[in-house]
Amino acid sequence: MPNQEPKKSYEFFAPKVFIRTFGCQMNVRDSEVICGILVNAGYKICASDREADIIIVNTCSVRQHAEDRVWSLIGSYKGSKIIGLVGCMAQNYKERVFQRDVNVSFVVGPQDIYKIPEILNKFTSKGFFERKVWEVDSPDRPEEIYHTGFFQDKDHAYVVISEGCSNFCSYCVVPYVRGPLRHRKNINILREIREAVARGITRVTLLGQNVNAYYDNSINFTKLLRQVNALEGLKEFTFFTSHPKDANIEFFQAICDLNKLNKSLHLPLQSGVDRILNLMNRGYSVKKYLALIDSYRKIVKGGLLTTDIIVGFPSETDKEFKQTCDLIKKVRFNAAYIFKYSPRPNTEAARLTDLLTKKEKEKRHKKILDLQREISNKLRIKHADAKA
Ligand code: 5AD
Ligand code: SF4
Repeated sequence: MPNQEPKKSYEFFAPKVFIRTFGCQMNVRDSEVICGILVNAGYKICASDREADIIIVNTCSVRQHAEDRVWSLIGSYKGSKIIGLVGCMAQNYKERVFQRDVNVSFVVGPQDIYKIPEILNKFTSKGFFERKVWEVDSPDRPEEIYHTGFFQDKDHAYVVISEGCSNFCSYCVVPYVRGPLRHRKNINILREIREAVARGITRVTLLGQNVNAYYDNSINFTKLLRQVNALEGLKEFTFFTSHPKDANIEFFQAICDLNKLNKSLHLPLQSGVDRILNLMNRGYSVKKYLALIDSYRKIVKGGLLTTDIIVGFPSETDKEFKQTCDLIKKVRFNAAYIFKYSPRPNTEAARLTDLLTKKEKEKRHKKILDLQREISNKLRIKHADAKA
């Protein structure tokens, strides 16, 4: 029809957004949430930064290295695109981001992500001359952002059960950037999983910084696991991350009993020395940790066990480092994520004198990596043999 009125540009111009995610599974889920609310607001999600009008970088502050990678990435984005920095670094640096990189147009903390469509509407509407926007002061997220039905995978969904963390491990920035622990309502978690299953999801990963501390309306984490196991249509599920100070026998029993729950446990140890665990404010001793995994292995026969270790925590001596190596040999984790200690702003540990050289930290890091690699390989072979 040649005489048809041309469509007004805003009716068919859907700005394209590309989201790049750094960090943990919580960030992966947050990026999905952002995609979901942007799609509902009429934006198009695209698969590469080249075709995007708007680039959102969802960031991690847990170690300096993660932040350095983000600064160098956004430094490489030049030209006419709108660039937003969201997530933990946004909360960490707030409006100081704009001093660090003039290309960034908006900064949005993890609790404020629900405001992103509104912010982008401002940038994409005519007559908006504000050049910089930052939103970093929300205490909470509205529940509805978890229900857009947007999942990256066809059959797997991440489901947040709690936000933030109140443990204040002395090295960790999470309580400062993600706020205090808040539990999602039990009925809302179950509703989200049911909705996901109705969309074809068969596997779920429950997420929280310390899932074992979950509590809502007399439902603790073990009860939540039992409720999730009972959901029709769900085939398999798992959870991240557990904390040794809140893990107990009732919880291990649930891992054993529940037919849909993966028989694996990620239980971060961090150090094999009581003095360092105390300095880290972890709330357990080596003895308590060993007793816990002993119960786990007795109750969940054949269950996998993985952990996190930090090497080079301030004042860690060579002897203490060796004690951690010995403990790793003793426990024989199926896998361990080994991190070099990285001082983080605001944290207690950042105030401790850190005399270890970068070289020494690297040496310890490599030594444990090699040690763990050997153990993991042997266990993998044993596991494969047992299955054959
Ligand atoms: N330096 C090094 N590793 C850290 N982690 C958390 N904070 C730091 C830090 N400042 C590690 C811990 C945690 C994992 C997610 O990251 O081992 O369990
Ligand atoms: Fe950080 Fe400790 Fe909370 Fe984990 S439990 S997020 S390490 S403060």
